[in-house]
Amino acid sequence: MEVGENTAALEVATTFEELGLAPEILGALRDMGYSIPTPIQKQAIPLVLAGRDLMAQAQTGTGKTAAFALPLLQKMVAHASTSTSPARHPVRALVITPTRELAIQVHASVVDYSKNLPLRSTVVFGGVDMKGQEADLRRGVEILVATPGRLLDHAGSKMVKLSQVQFLVLDEADRMLDMGFMPDLKRILDLLPTKRQTLLFSATFDDSIVGLAKSFLQNPLKVEVARRNTAAELVEQVVHNVREDDKMDALLRAIKARDISQALVFTRTKIAADKLGRRLQKRGIQTGIIHGDKAQVERLAALDGFKQGKVQLLVATDIAARGLDIVDLPCVVNFELPYAAEDYVHRIGRTGRAGASGLAISLVSPEEERLLVAIRKFINRDLVETPLPENEPPRQAAVAVPAAVPAAVHSAVIEQPDATQPRTGRLQREPVCALLLPPIKPVQSNHNA
Ligand SMILES: Nc1ncnc2c1ncn2[C@@H]1O[C@H](COP(=O)(O)OP(=O)(O)OP(=O)(O)O)[C@@H](O)[C@H]1O
Ligand SMILES: [Mg+2]
Repeated sequence: MEVGENTAALEVATTFEELGLAPEILGALRDMGYSIPTPIQKQAIPLVLAGRDLMAQAQTGTGKTAAFALPLLQKMVAHASTSTSPARHPVRALVITPTRELAIQVHASVVDYSKNLPLRSTVVFGGVDMKGQEADLRRGVEILVATPGRLLDHAGSKMVKLSQVQFLVLDEADRMLDMGFMPDLKRILDLLPTKRQTLLFSATFDDSIVGLAKSFLQNPLKVEVARRNTAAELVEQVVHNVREDDKMDALLRAIKARDISQALVFTRTKIAADKLGRRLQKRGIQTGIIHGDKAQVERLAALDGFKQGKVQLLVATDIAARGLDIVDLPCVVNFELPYAAEDYVHRIGRTGRAGASGLAISLVSPEEERLLVAIRKFINRDLVETPLPENEPPRQAAVAVPAAVPAAVHSAVIEQPDATQPRTGRLQREPVCALLLPPIKPVQSNHNA
């Protein structure tokens, strides 16, 4: 099968057991409350187990991490060793992510999934001391999760050897292959054996990436769970037209009127994030700020505070747009629209994850109209502009309406729970929507269109 060929027919297994995973892995999944695989997991896991290179696309929050991590762990079960000798623990799987926070999160998932196996893993990323990471690398690890720059630092000082890597994963692959990361990525690829299995995962891929990726994939398959570049199905998308100077008040009004407990608020620049964050703090709102110029300890503290619910608003640049899984986050706000349309899909995908509903509010100034046009085109949906809600709970709000999209492409990415199954996993729980949107009745719902 070639790139572009539909792999949906391969979605035959319906349980993790049928996917042929080891009992140790199945036990870990049970403990995490995963009872059925998601569509991307059903499709990708058999192909990875069969040794194929993949370009895999599935919407945000639909379990891509497990879709690559589980089959890799399965393939490494045979190498699991309790030996303390570092030589028995060469790096066999390398997972690269674009941000430090995402690397930490992916590694945490690997640790969870592999907790019953004697496989070692660690994570290396910049902005923190190298010493602790060096100690882990010296002991030997089978699975290494890394951001590119720090990985090259360790490779340069001979702390890590990558000559035995059998599996390479680029999470957020389209981002990893863009101009900002390409030079580092090329240097990393030069350190890896050419005979290896390479897996690219993202919620978005554009055509230029497809061409580029083919040059270092071998006979790859393309797995597409939904139509290309589809935004998460369970995110209600609202657009308010607001003058630039009125945005701060509009933000407060939009979240107050809907009684939103927490929101991740995106700006385009670090300066804008700092400015907005400070203004919100002055208004007495518990606000964290996260962007690339902050010290790593501050970045982690801001994210942790937000995850623990101590912070109501987290103002962020696109550093927080990709991959982060903030459990039950009810709302994302685009205080400024992103320049790159794909970033919109990733930003709003921080809510509406694992079967939960979410709300994405975009505050669009007249100067940003052209960005909105590009986003509409990218996601192939109309985004209807609607007035800001009054401070009293509003009667109605407009939502995204599909623009001439065939019904078939809206096939649910997250399977609806089977009423006979126990409701344990996150993908099977009640939506959080009720919490934040009781008064809002969408004019037109596209969720099941
Ligand atoms: N089979 C499953 N059953 C229940 N929960 C699951 C299952 N698979 C994944 N999850 C949970 O779903 C959430 C989203 O998973 P994950 O972060 O891998 O999504 P993703 O597809 O990588 O999203 P993004 O495109 O934003 O990176 C996580 O909290 C994860 O634990
Ligand atoms: Mg992900």
